[in-house]
Amino acid sequence: MGYREIYSAWQADPEAFWMQAAEAIDWVRKPSKALFDENAPIYEWFSDGMVNACWNAVDRHVEAGRGDQIAIMHESPITLSTKGLTYAQLQKRVASLAGALRMRGVEKGDRVIIYMPMIPEALEAMLACARLGAIHSVVFGGFAASELAVRIDDCQPKAIIAASCGLEPNRVVHYKPLLDAAIDQASHKPEFCVIFQREQEVAKLIEGRDFSWHGFQYGVKPAECVPVEGNHPAYILYTSGTTGQPKGVVRHTAGHLVALQWSMKNIYNIEAGDRFWAASDVGWVVGHSYICYGPLIAGGTTVVFEGKPVGTPHPGVFWRIIQNHRIKSFFTAPTALRAIRREDPNGEWIRRYKLHDLQALFLAGERADPDTVKWAQDHLGVPVVDHWWQTETGWAIAANPIGIETLPTKLGSPSVPMPGYDVQVLDEGGNPVPPGTLGAIAIKLPLPPGTLPTLWNAESRFRKSYLDHFPGYYETGDAGYVDEDGYLYIMARTDDVINVAGHRLSTGAMEEVLASHPAVAECAVIGVADSLKGQSPLGFLCLKAGVDTPHAKVVAEVVKLVRERIGPVAAFKEACVVDRLPKTRSGKILRATMAKIADGEAFKMPATIDDPAVLDEITEALRQLGYPQVATAG
Ligand code: COA
Ligand code: AMP
Repeated sequence: MGYREIYSAWQADPEAFWMQAAEAIDWVRKPSKALFDENAPIYEWFSDGMVNACWNAVDRHVEAGRGDQIAIMHESPITLSTKGLTYAQLQKRVASLAGALRMRGVEKGDRVIIYMPMIPEALEAMLACARLGAIHSVVFGGFAASELAVRIDDCQPKAIIAASCGLEPNRVVHYKPLLDAAIDQASHKPEFCVIFQREQEVAKLIEGRDFSWHGFQYGVKPAECVPVEGNHPAYILYTSGTTGQPKGVVRHTAGHLVALQWSMKNIYNIEAGDRFWAASDVGWVVGHSYICYGPLIAGGTTVVFEGKPVGTPHPGVFWRIIQNHRIKSFFTAPTALRAIRREDPNGEWIRRYKLHDLQALFLAGERADPDTVKWAQDHLGVPVVDHWWQTETGWAIAANPIGIETLPTKLGSPSVPMPGYDVQVLDEGGNPVPPGTLGAIAIKLPLPPGTLPTLWNAESRFRKSYLDHFPGYYETGDAGYVDEDGYLYIMARTDDVINVAGHRLSTGAMEEVLASHPAVAECAVIGVADSLKGQSPLGFLCLKAGVDTPHAKVVAEVVKLVRERIGPVAAFKEACVVDRLPKTRSGKILRATMAKIADGEAFKMPATIDDPAVLDEITEALRQLGYPQVATAG
């Protein structure tokens, strides 16, 4: 069957479609049905099944005779090490860690925060939680202590599992002091911490609270897999919303397993024994779905990569790893390719390696600009699949499902909706618009298995953020259009979220930090186009009356503050002082108009603008910052 037949089969009978997909999962008790819609518009999947995620990702492959196959390949060009872990070794290590967590009281439903760099132990920690039915929440290493503290207070973990340090090419990231500061700042205190001591930096442990990874497991009884209900949360993953308070996206266990297994075969064309690599980080959704769970559920080999696309040590590192590990499907962010292309425009590094096993390159995390896609197509000679999804959905909303059939690629489009997703483009009134017309992209409810059922302890925020605006739909927060052939085009966010180097960031969160500076009366942060990172944040500050601190000093201080409070990942490096911010008559800051001016895009003078002259002041400030292409109203 081709894509169209499969999509139609899902449309005709979604229940049968997902019950059939569920057969690829090992159940302790099979679910009686797929969709649970009793609490619509809050939907659940496979709720009355009993299942264990770790069993499906690890143990069942050992049982099936794959114990000697490499499950996780660790590649760290930063520490110059390469190391493989078989499924049998992984099972042993995960059962042991889970046993030790259980000895200290971690049980089904307890939360555990994981704050670790790209080492296999990060996946082991996730899987150990899954083994016990504990709910993990992985926090990205590039966040500052206060971001970690916010997450500690929100999900109230019983334990935190961390490493002593992370390794960026130019510095050691001292995780332990960040962890200690976060626990100090948080009102909730974990009962204990487990620290994996890396040889690059041995952290000082706090007696009675901190245990070392190995010592903690000494002599413990390995834990078996604990069956959990299908709607038991597997994890919480925080993502940026409009405000500084991140959204705790919840993932239910059974839908997660079924959807990931389906996607591995049908989207990525990966089956047991195949080798798959997603060059992302476990702190992001890509890391959850396609570094840890997806490839392992499918019985494949996954790569844990600690490095960067360039500079560790050269722009050929991706191709070297693809060659050496005979990777079949590779997944990265467009920004990584742009970084490589900048250093290797003619693909000379690509030609040094034999990429015979590579069948496709997958891109996601931000819009894949046609130039970059074309460059990759020309130099790699394999299909380049842009696919579109979000932390909330956990797997692709739209893709080119090469495991089913390779559809014609259209540059600038992540292709077509996947089964489970009825994607509609709506006008402000919630009415579908004709092909070619820009609108808000929404998905008709219910969302498929594997997507978020709610936000952690915040159901009303879930409804308000995603369901209320267009009743009967999930609002994606993205705007775009669909063409005559049903291909989607994702053009921009409709909210204050920006995308910097494939990382999703909230301008609202940055504004909260800027506003906390004593000299700042008012501020705005916008995302401006960046040829490498897609977007980069730019701040505008209005100072309080009577402040005579030099502007450059205030700017330097707010840049430092954002790094301290949100973290280096915010990449907030630029701001300027202005007298006023452009606003509507009702006082709303015209951020989108400011962004258009900075990007040199034609824009219409907003009808509701309070004082058009302010836009001239903004334009002048941008010119002085070195934005040559500033636009004027058309
Ligand atoms: N822990 C601590 N700090 C981190 C970090 C981590 N895990 N990841 C990034 N940072 C820091 C970086 O060191 C950098 O700090 P600096 O300001 O001291 O230089 C800052 O956060 C910004 O990092 P980044 O945005 O990654 O920029 P970069 O200049 O280091 O690298 C790219 C640019 C394009 C090479 C890089 O962003 C990249 O590989 N992007 C791909 C992202 C990706 O795969 N996203 C997954 C989504 S699917
Ligand atoms: P995240 O939740 O971090 O995965 O970010 C999700 C957001 O990134 C989406 O809502 C989009 O704005 C953007 N995004 C992800 N993939 C794509 C893509 N293929 N094309 C365009 N935008 C994308």
